[in-house]
Amino acid sequence: MGVVFEPFKAKVVEPLALLSRDERQAALELAGYNLFALPADAVTFDLLTDSGTTAMSAEQWAAMMRGDEAYAGSRSFHRFDRVVRDLTGYAHVIPTHQGRAAERILFALVVEKGRSVIPSNNHFDTTRANIEFDGGEALDLVCQEAADPKTSAPFKGDIDLDKLEACCREHAGNIPLGMQTITNNTGGGQPASLANIRAVSEILHSHDIPFFLDACRFAENAWFIKQREPGQAHRSVREIAQEVFALADGCTFSGKKDGLVNMGGVLAMNDPELAQRARNLLILTEGFPTYGGCAARDLEALAVGLEEVLDEKYLEYRTASVRYLAEGLEKVGIPVMHPPGGHAVYADAGALLPHIPAHDYPGQALACALYLEGGIRTCEIGSVMFGRRGDDGSFTPARLELVRFALPRRVYTQSHVDRMLEVAAEVAALAPSLPGMEMVEAPRYLPHFTARFRPRTGVTVS
Ligand code: F0G
Repeated sequence: MGVVFEPFKAKVVEPLALLSRDERQAALELAGYNLFALPADAVTFDLLTDSGTTAMSAEQWAAMMRGDEAYAGSRSFHRFDRVVRDLTGYAHVIPTHQGRAAERILFALVVEKGRSVIPSNNHFDTTRANIEFDGGEALDLVCQEAADPKTSAPFKGDIDLDKLEACCREHAGNIPLGMQTITNNTGGGQPASLANIRAVSEILHSHDIPFFLDACRFAENAWFIKQREPGQAHRSVREIAQEVFALADGCTFSGKKDGLVNMGGVLAMNDPELAQRARNLLILTEGFPTYGGCAARDLEALAVGLEEVLDEKYLEYRTASVRYLAEGLEKVGIPVMHPPGGHAVYADAGALLPHIPAHDYPGQALACALYLEGGIRTCEIGSVMFGRRGDDGSFTPARLELVRFALPRRVYTQSHVDRMLEVAAEVAALAPSLPGMEMVEAPRYLPHFTARFRPRTGVTVS
């Protein structure tokens, strides 16, 4: 097999922000050492998220010009509806402005306060937040292999089937639906196997519980099934994806990932009665059911993106570029989670910076160093995000101190990644002397977005 190269060429380009180290230092101080507070103009390589950061294709831009902005019954909706129904098989397709809007509508309809339990492999933050906001309990039942960042199991997004069966019995009558996130973002962008999704479907259905997918990275998940699951190599990714959707009764979907668009989402399902209630709720906040919070041109772009993302040359390049980044980071001495996920590499900051205790946020220290040394913006997924700070000053760290390098789709080239790896090598060399971070301002909820930090002084260890 030769070099895996980008199966596209550039038509429109955007300059990269190239700042001096002093300029980055000033920007970082102004941002309170919180990378969410940096202006994008101060960032050279933006790996904060793969969500909504896709470069669209010429075909998508062309389709946008066909957008029929009729308030009701737009041509663009019908085109979008056909593409989503052909892929998923679900009878009812409801556009939303992004994934969390689909979640909000679905859970508002099915969660009963103080009673409902919703199992999944791992709920993404917004999914969990929407369930909890409605008074339900979001249960994570991911398989055992997912707990160890060093083992290379092929399907760490699988659900533990024994736990799921036990959960269905224990909470009988109180599970309005079960979910599975593909790929499992919270667990490291890891795929779920077809066999596991099939078994989850069987267990839930044997208890008369509907099954919904959080499907925003469905194409990357289907590609991994084709590559890794015995007996799947000869099938097309589209066929695999169609089978996965057919095993469930509906999905929530953020188009900002495998939809290859900057904005858009879907709530789709087979149940006509639930769909009607969803449309009624949609009208309150998102808009009429044939545009649902999007411009019709956004639906056109999403319809094209859903076809393009199933191009296997694209998926080969996509997963190869994530793997290339992961292998490169390990080579320069930054340990990463295994195996690399579909959309992101998760560096193990706890292992790289053992001299920084969890309450001094090793993930934040690594993320700040990557920015300072080379303008790379990553995202801490450790004790800043998931640590618990009690009113009595107590502190419970996150299970792992990770830093996520999420690759936007079709945006950065291999030489960009090579430059990121040069920066990573400089940071790895500095690792023993990197200071921990003190959180000096911490809001009560979602501190990672707005907390302010400063480097600990006088803790340089060699
Ligand atoms: N589900 C998963 C698995 C996600 O990763 C996200 C978003 C959502 C739902 C919500 O979708 O943003 O369109 O409302 N993930 C982004 C990320 C934000 O950076 O991982 P949304």
